[in-house]
Amino acid sequence: MPAIVLVGAQWGDEGKGKATDLLGSAVDYVVKFNGGNNAGHTIVIEQPDGTREKYALHLLPSGILTPTCVPVIGNGVVIDLAVLFEEIDGLEARGVDTSRLLVSASAHVIPPYNRVLDKVTERFLGSRRIGTTGRGIGPTYADKMARTGIRVQDLFDEGILRQKVEAALDFKNQVLAKIYNRRAVGVDEVVEELLTHADRLRPMVADTSLVLERALDAGETVLLEAGQATLLDVDHGTYPFVTSSNATAGGACTGSGIPPTRIDRVIAILKAYSTRVGEGPFPTELHDAMGEFLRKTGAEYGTTTGRPRRCGWLDTVVGRYATRVNGVTDFVITKLDVLTGLEKVPVCVAYDVDGVRHDEMPVNQSDFHHATPVYEELDGWWEDISACRTFEELPANAQAYVVRVEELVGARVSAIGVGPGRDEIVTRHSLLGGD
Ligand code: GDP
Ligand code: IMO
Ligand code: MG
Repeated sequence: MPAIVLVGAQWGDEGKGKATDLLGSAVDYVVKFNGGNNAGHTIVIEQPDGTREKYALHLLPSGILTPTCVPVIGNGVVIDLAVLFEEIDGLEARGVDTSRLLVSASAHVIPPYNRVLDKVTERFLGSRRIGTTGRGIGPTYADKMARTGIRVQDLFDEGILRQKVEAALDFKNQVLAKIYNRRAVGVDEVVEELLTHADRLRPMVADTSLVLERALDAGETVLLEAGQATLLDVDHGTYPFVTSSNATAGGACTGSGIPPTRIDRVIAILKAYSTRVGEGPFPTELHDAMGEFLRKTGAEYGTTTGRPRRCGWLDTVVGRYATRVNGVTDFVITKLDVLTGLEKVPVCVAYDVDGVRHDEMPVNQSDFHHATPVYEELDGWWEDISACRTFEELPANAQAYVVRVEELVGARVSAIGVGPGRDEIVTRHSLLGGD
C-alpha cells in the first residue's frame, strides 16, 4: 500500500491541514517530516449538531484529529517541547485523544537560546530581515547542519545532554553577548528546562523510520505531510526568503526515513490565488483593493503569528515549478469559493523580465525579483459554490478555470476546496490513486 506525500505548492497556508485531515480516515499514519511550530494549520470540523469546531495545529501532524490514524513527528522536524505539550494539553482538554503520537528519537529540539537568537538576528538584519516566525527554527536547523544540535534522544542521558548544551553555548554565548549585547545563557538553566519534559516525552519516542517501514510492509497507508511549501524550501525556494528545511517532496524521505522507492503519489495543495507571509519576492502581489478583497474574503491572517498575509493572483509559473520539483501526481485547488463574484479572474501564465518572456521560473533570483506577471483573464462566476460536491455542479466558468489551471500547471486537479469545512470539497479523482 502506498506512501503519499502532501506538499504546499506556493508560499504556505494553502490548506494542507484541511487536505491532510480530509485524507485522515483513509490513512493509517500521518507523518510531519519538516519544520516545527512555524507551521499553522487550521482545520474546521462540522459537528453533528451543525456547529463548527476550529482547531489550530502547529507541531502536531494534522492526522491527530482522526482517531484511527497514528500521528508521527519525523526526524526532520524541530521540536519546541513546551509547545508540543501545550498543544497536546489543549487538544486533550477538547476531548481529542493524542495518546497514539510517536516522536522520532532523532528529531532535533529547539533549545531556548535559539528562540532568542532567531528574534535578535531578525532585529539585527533590519531591512534585510526574512520576516521569520521567531520560533527558533532557523538557528536550530543551522545547529543541526553544524553538528551542534540537541536531539530528542539526548534528553535521556543527562551527561550527554549537558556536554552538548555546553558545546553549543560555548559558541552561542559569544554571539549573544558580543554581537547582540544580550545576556549569556547558563548551561544549567537550559539542561533543566529540557529535562523537565523528558519523562513525559519518553513513552512517545520511537525509531519512527522502522515503525513506518513495517507499516508499509504490512500494507498500511502512510501520508507524509509537509509544513511550509515549495517556494519556502531552503533549496528550491526564493532563497534567502525561505524557511530552513526541505518542504518539497524530497524532504519527505530524508525527514521520515522512508526511501524514495516507496513513495507512490505526491499531492500538492494549490490555493486558487497566492499568499505570502514575511518578506521576499512575490510577482503577482496586489497592493490595491483587490488584494484587500482576497485578504478579507479568504480570511488571510496567519494562524501562527496573526500577521496579515500578502495576497495576489494565482501564479501558474509557480504551480508548474511545484509540479517539476515535487513530481506532483495530483493537485488539490483550495479556496476556489473565495474567487466567487469576480467579473474576471486573472491568472499569471508567464513573466516578463526586462522585455524577455519567461515561461518557467527564472533561474536567477534577481530576475524573479523583477518579474512582471503576464496575465490571462478568465471569466468569473457569481453562483455560491460552497454546496457543490461534484465537478458538474460547479458553474461552467468555475469548471473552465479549473481545467485551464490544470493545463497550465501540468498535472491533474483531483479535488477542489469550496469552503473551510471538512466536507466542503469537490472530488474528481481519488487522492489515494486508483482512478
Ligand atoms: P496550511 O498551513 O497549508 O495548513 O493552511 P492554513 O490552515 O494556514 O490556511 C488555510 C486556511 O484556509 C485555513 O483557515 C482553512 O480553514 C482555510 N481553508 C482551507 N480550504 C479552504 C477552502 O476550500 N475554502 C475556504 N474558504 N477556506 C479554506
Ligand atoms: P504553513 O505550514 C507561511 C515563513 C515565514 C518567513 C519564512 C521563514 O502554515 O504553511 P521561519 O520561522 O520558518 O524561519 O520563517 O517562512 N513561514 C511560513 N509562511 N506558512 C508557513 O507554514 C510558514 N512557516 C514559515 O513567514 O517568511
Ligand atoms: Mg498555515
